[in-house]
Formats: sequence, structure tokens, C-alpha cells
Amino acid sequence: MTIQEVAKKFQELFGETNGAGTFFAPGRVNLIGEHTDYNGGHVFPCALTMGIYGVMRKREDRVLRFYSLDFPEDGVVMSSLDELAPLSDKGWTAYPKGVVWAFAKKGYVVPAGFDFVIGGDIPSGSGLSSSAALEVLTGAALRDTFGFTDLTNVDLALIGQLSENEYNGMQCGIMDQFASAMVKEDCAIYLDTSRLEYTYAPLQLADASIVITNSKVKHALVGSPYNDRRRDCAKALACFKEHLPIESLGEMTVDQFETYKDLLPDPVVRVRARHAVYENARTIQALSALQAGNLARFGELMNASHVSLRDDYEVSCPELDLLAAAAWEVPGVIGSRMTGGGFGGCTVSIVENAALPQFQEALTSVYEDAYGKCPEFYIVRPGEGARALEM
Ligand code: GLA
Repeated sequence: MTIQEVAKKFQELFGETNGAGTFFAPGRVNLIGEHTDYNGGHVFPCALTMGIYGVMRKREDRVLRFYSLDFPEDGVVMSSLDELAPLSDKGWTAYPKGVVWAFAKKGYVVPAGFDFVIGGDIPSGSGLSSSAALEVLTGAALRDTFGFTDLTNVDLALIGQLSENEYNGMQCGIMDQFASAMVKEDCAIYLDTSRLEYTYAPLQLADASIVITNSKVKHALVGSPYNDRRRDCAKALACFKEHLPIESLGEMTVDQFETYKDLLPDPVVRVRARHAVYENARTIQALSALQAGNLARFGELMNASHVSLRDDYEVSCPELDLLAAAAWEVPGVIGSRMTGGGFGGCTVSIVENAALPQFQEALTSVYEDAYGKCPEFYIVRPGEGARALEM
């Protein structure tokens, strides 16, 4: 997909692009730090070069017209600024409409309607954050189109999360929107989600590449056990808070967890909290390992992350487990794990370049034998966050 293709469609549907703005927001892949963001822990994602392009132009009335090159069967979706319906809106336009709603909630009332055409190349339902990219894209487009120039990219990430939580009913953390809005090219972003403090970590992988493997099991987090996991962690925190001066599981060390874990009467809640605390510790170690050039250690932490997501947090699925386990067997694979919310979607692996053909062959063959379908592979070049584009 290119911005030119999206602009061409805009012209066909809505006339010349004079006066319109052009924007891009990327998807993300998380290297480590999974299900830690709503627990006040650390995450470590990078942006993809895959993302969503958009062309927006303001109107004189209150009408909203949307078109997505990814959902041509929906045609032009008509709506209005007076038809924003939190928690009951349906279809892909619920994401941009949710952002308009969240802008107003933050005091940035969109004063007029707009025409908005989008098109992207993030495989949808793959756990690579196409919805966060769409939210951040819409935020960047509204900011420019309506002159809300004091909004920063961090604000756009927070507004995107608010819209996802309160308009679309998915209680996600801040990771995906933050990555899409803030990441820099060739870097991962190491984010402390409790303080929103971040560091850019250059991804110098020497002779290795980041490879995403798409299981093609569609992951849909709205209505999934994702919100249940959040509740389990909230229960654990409430128990700990009766005895410890903490505000989030992200503040706990592994030693503290081991000392106090028996305060949690429910064994399920205990293993959920164990994941949150240990995964945060692994993410902190992963930054040091990367900065020290110790890729082997980074890979071990990724593998341990997968095991914990599979066994303690129970957000993996047999397809992802097979892909990760098959990757661990291939010489030259530094680390491999499921990435994103889970229940389908993708794994992320770090693979020595010389081993890439063997990696793809091995995973394809194992996966085809078990499930009768081929996984898809994307070799990632860490991309740049959301931005306005020149035509
Ligand atoms: C989804 C959510 C994120 C994060 C991940 C799990 O992608 O949107 O906020 O919780 O799952 O790490």
C-alpha cells in the first residue's frame, strides 16, 4: 500500500485532494514485556514499516464519510458527528469515530465533519496492532486537519487508548498506541508504563533479523479473555496492597513476589500475578542484555516469556506454541515467542540471517503437517512512528 493509492481513491470518491492532509501510522511488534502494560510494568516494542495510510479533508457540515481500501465491501460509510455511540458502534469505523469521541472527552471538540480514506498493509487480526495504528492515524489526522497543534504524540497515544477502552470496550494498556505514535526508525522503545518514561534502544542485531511468523489464527481481543486477565491482575494487586505499599504489580520485584505470593488465596490469580511480575523483570533484563550486545541472553528471555505466557498467563494457543517450539529447535534461532495480546496472531523470533531459509522451511513444514496451512513470514525493519506525509 502507498499513500498515492489511498490519495487516488480519495480523488475518485470525494474529488480533488486539494486541502487534504496525508498521514501514516505503523503497526508494532513487541519484542518482550507482554501483558505488563496494564500492570504498570515495562514493554519493549518496535514499530513496523507496515501500517495504515490516510487522507483526510474537513467539510463544512457535520457529516463524516469514511472509506477503507481494506474493507471495500463496506463502501463509503456515512455517519455524522452527532452519531457517536460508545460501546454500541460496529464495524471498522468505530475506531476513527471512537477517536473523535475521545478528542471531545479531552476537551478537543472536532468542530466539523470530514472525509477520510484509509488503506493499510498490516494483516488484520494478526496481533500487530492494526486497531492502534488506525487510532493513532486518526488522531494525527484530526490534529492537523483541525489545528489542535498543542497535542503531542504522547497525547495521541493516550487518546487512542481512551477511545479503545471507553468507546470500543477493550481494556487495553498503552503499549500499542504508544509504539505506533512514538517509536523511531531502527529502534525499539523501552517504556515504563507507570510513568510513561521511555528510552530508545537501537536494534543492532549484527547478522540477525527480527522475523514475525503469522499463525493466521485470527486474534480478536474484544470479548476475549483479555479483560479477564486484567481482572485477575487487579485482584492480585488488591490483595497485595493490603500488606504492601505498592500501586501496581510492576513495582514488585521477583523476590518480593516470592515472599508474599501466599497472600493470594486463588491459585489462578497467583500464576497470573507471577507472570506479570516475572515478565516485567525479564523485560528490564532484556534492555541490559541488548545494550551489552548480549543477544543470546535476550533470546533466552524471549523464550522464557513464551513459556510464562503459555503456562501461567494462558494466553497462547496450540498453533503459537507449535511455532515457538519449532523455532527453538532450529540452529541459529536466538529466541522466539508469541507476541501481542495472544489467543492467535503471531510469534516474533530473532534469527541469524544465515539460518533464515532453514527457519522458514522448518516452521512451514511442521505447521503444514499439523494444521494443513502455511504460516506467513515477515522480516521486520524497525520503522518510524506516526507522521504527516508529503505527497
Ligand atoms: C494487546 C493490548 C496491549 C497489551 C498487549 C499484551 O496488544 O492492546 O495494551 O496489553 O495486548 O502485552
